[in-house]
Amino acid sequence: MKVTLSVLKADIGSVGGHTLPSRKVLARVEEVVREAVGRLLLDAYVFHIGDDIVLLLSHTQGPGHPEVHGLAWKAFREGTTVAKEEGLYGAGQDLLKDAFTGNLHGLGPQVAEMEFEERPSEPFMVLAADKTEPGAFNLPLYLAFADPMYSSGLLLSPELRPGFRFRIMDLAQTERDSYIELDAPERLYDIATLLRDSHRFAIASIWSRKHGEVAAVVSTTRLRNIAGRYVGKDDPVALVRTQKIFPATEEFGPVFALAPFVAGDTRGSHHMPLMPVKANTPASTFFCVPMVCGLAFSLKEGRLSEPVDLFADPVWEAVRAKVVEKAQEMRRQGFFGPAMLPMEELEYTGIAERLRELAREFS
Ligand code: 13P
Ligand code: 13P
Ligand code: MG
Ligand code: MG
Ligand code: MG
Ligand code: MG
Repeated sequence: MKVTLSVLKADIGSVGGHTLPSRKVLARVEEVVREAVGRLLLDAYVFHIGDDIVLLLSHTQGPGHPEVHGLAWKAFREGTTVAKEEGLYGAGQDLLKDAFTGNLHGLGPQVAEMEFEERPSEPFMVLAADKTEPGAFNLPLYLAFADPMYSSGLLLSPELRPGFRFRIMDLAQTERDSYIELDAPERLYDIATLLRDSHRFAIASIWSRKHGEVAAVVSTTRLRNIAGRYVGKDDPVALVRTQKIFPATEEFGPVFALAPFVAGDTRGSHHMPLMPVKANTPASTFFCVPMVCGLAFSLKEGRLSEPVDLFADPVWEAVRAKVVEKAQEMRRQGFFGPAMLPMEELEYTGIAERLRELAREFS
């Protein structure tokens, strides 16, 4: 059976700042989505990460389907109406266009979709991040799919040994989408050369070379490229299939425990570690530290099992304590050096404007 998984995410307003969506907004969004289960959809699951609402939809319509995207648009629009009634902050923040034109791409919400022939057992996970950028998934996914130091399956399993194909997007191309496909392990250094620059290049998808099967998809929407100004961070989502011909679920844990420094944090303008948190965690008042959550499911004929929260077991409390130290250490140096993003990545215009003024005072 061919199934499509669609993950669609948007920030449509939050309580008391960029924290979390209200219960009323979440309930309205979920209600709209639920009405379509059994009709357009096989199943659905709604959760939030920070102030972003995530829709996980399973169906047989294929990626980019106008009705599926239209349903998500309707859910986000109706949620926005509730957010406005409640006076939530940034109501409708990620809905950057007024009219729906058949597809959510280019309208603001993050989109990650994959279609595949369902395996007898189909374990997969959805990863959702807040207060960071699409390239935040570069290092964790590179390590899980290409580095045997993290993914011992690359050595232990003949299914994984031929490696994976990385499809990488150049985010600087704003006129049209531009991709390169590189095979690991042969092109490992080229893959690393691109992925090290997480502001410029982001993994779009990963494929099993032995089986030609899609392994992972990541949303690559850059809000600034759509709006032409800062409208909040491009907090990404990803779908990853696991087990058998793919890395095991537990091979993704250590790569997220690394908590690499990524762009995001306060006003989307700093470098801070990517903190693994439980699903439905509000954004942190500690400078809005970038965060990622992961839910794993089993799929049967398009129906979702109950989720397991990948960053909820006791190990993650110890990991989080370390990441907090790392975050505090970086933020202690405030605006200085690598703590704040480089000029070309700064989301706010304040510094560029001041530099133009100050240039006149130089002699
Ligand atoms: P179980 O025996 O618990 O299924 O372990 C399988 C495994 O190899 C996990 O990495
Ligand atoms: P969001 O994209 O999550 O709304 O982030 C806004 C921000 O810049 C918080 O400091
Ligand atoms: Mg927000
Ligand atoms: Mg957000
Ligand atoms: Mg955002
Ligand atoms: Mg077992």
